[in-house]
Amino acid sequence: MFSSISSFRQISIILSLFLCASVLIYCSKSSSEKPDSQSKKTSQKAKKDTPELADAMGQLQYYTHKYALALDAKNHELASFYFHEVRAAADGIKKNIPGYEGYDIARFMKLFLDPTIQPVEDALANKNWEAARKRTIDMVNACNSCHNATSHGFVQITPGFDNNPYNQDFSAPE
Ligand code: HEC
Repeated sequence: MFSSISSFRQISIILSLFLCASVLIYCSKSSSEKPDSQSKKTSQKAKKDTPELADAMGQLQYYTHKYALALDAKNHELASFYFHEVRAAADGIKKNIPGYEGYDIARFMKLFLDPTIQPVEDALANKNWEAARKRTIDMVNACNSCHNATSHGFVQITPGFDNNPYNQDFSAPE
């Protein structure tokens, strides 16, 4: 009886030692992985905090094109909605990506694009479709002028009137 208790004790000591050892090994393993996963996390976070200019430009292009299609269809409500998004996307770039590859993006945006925005908005507000169309072409020219000025002249934007690749009907309600 006595000896079986002591051997039970021995076994439980051995078992708890084994448990401690495996906990220690597990902990040291996960702490050695930590610096790596930590740095991965920070670089992911950095990426999230500083958005890619190309992604933001893609968004600007997307709304510009949808705006142009709504304008082409003389759909005032839809065109106004998308132009608001164009403006917001441009403002977002100035605010969130003020510099890129050594270029003062915020300054270039203000210099090239900003002066072309209000004329579009005014023409649109007056439902002056002809003027809105002309001012939109001016705006798209400004996109391309800035691409030239920032060594991205190979990114050629067009208004994209009458060229609908979307699964969306832009026509104005009757
Ligand atoms: C600051 C000047 C500037 C202005 C203004 C500007 N862009 Fe850009 N754009 C750039 C730069 C710089 C790049 C390259 C970004 C990169 O290398 O990541 C770019 C890239 C792009 C791209 C390529 C990314 C893609 O998704 O295919 C598109 C499209 C684009 N711009 C559309 C536009 C449109 C549309 C406008 C006008 C409404 C515009 N841009 C106005 C500077 C500008």
